[in-house]
Amino acid sequence: GAAVEADISQLKPGEKMTVEWRGKPVWIVRRTPEQLASLKKTDPQVADPKSERTAFPTPDYAKNEYRSIKPEYFVAVGICSHLGCSPTDKFQSGPQPSLPDDWQGGFLCPCHGSTFDLAGRVFKNKPAPDNLEVPPYMFLSDTRLLIG
Ligand code: FES
Repeated sequence: GAAVEADISQLKPGEKMTVEWRGKPVWIVRRTPEQLASLKKTDPQVADPKSERTAFPTPDYAKNEYRSIKPEYFVAVGICSHLGCSPTDKFQSGPQPSLPDDWQGGFLCPCHGSTFDLAGRVFKNKPAPDNLEVPPYMFLSDTRLLIG
């Protein structure tokens, strides 16, 4: 089938791994408590805080504050909702070149500058029309994910 398994037993807090699913990169990010807390700060700065837009409908199990099944693990398709470039991760908080001074960490699309927070939510006034896509996935155990 088209589903892929991911072993997340080696993924440390603050790290990201990528698996390929249907030819697309799927990110699994293990978010730290600080990174999870940063999502409250970005709530007023993102275009669709509750993921109500429908270009890439967010599955019901990810329609929550963290856009994930387990808060710690963020799973998203690593493709910009604008024209399909792959954003890079910018996890470090604090001032960074080309990012706002109060940057909390997230993702930056190199093509036209869309920025996303650590739940893949696009910031206001960016070209990307929607948040990053959350793929179908489930936990097979504490350390194994099934994507697809
Ligand atoms: Fe990402 Fe245009 S493709 S901002």
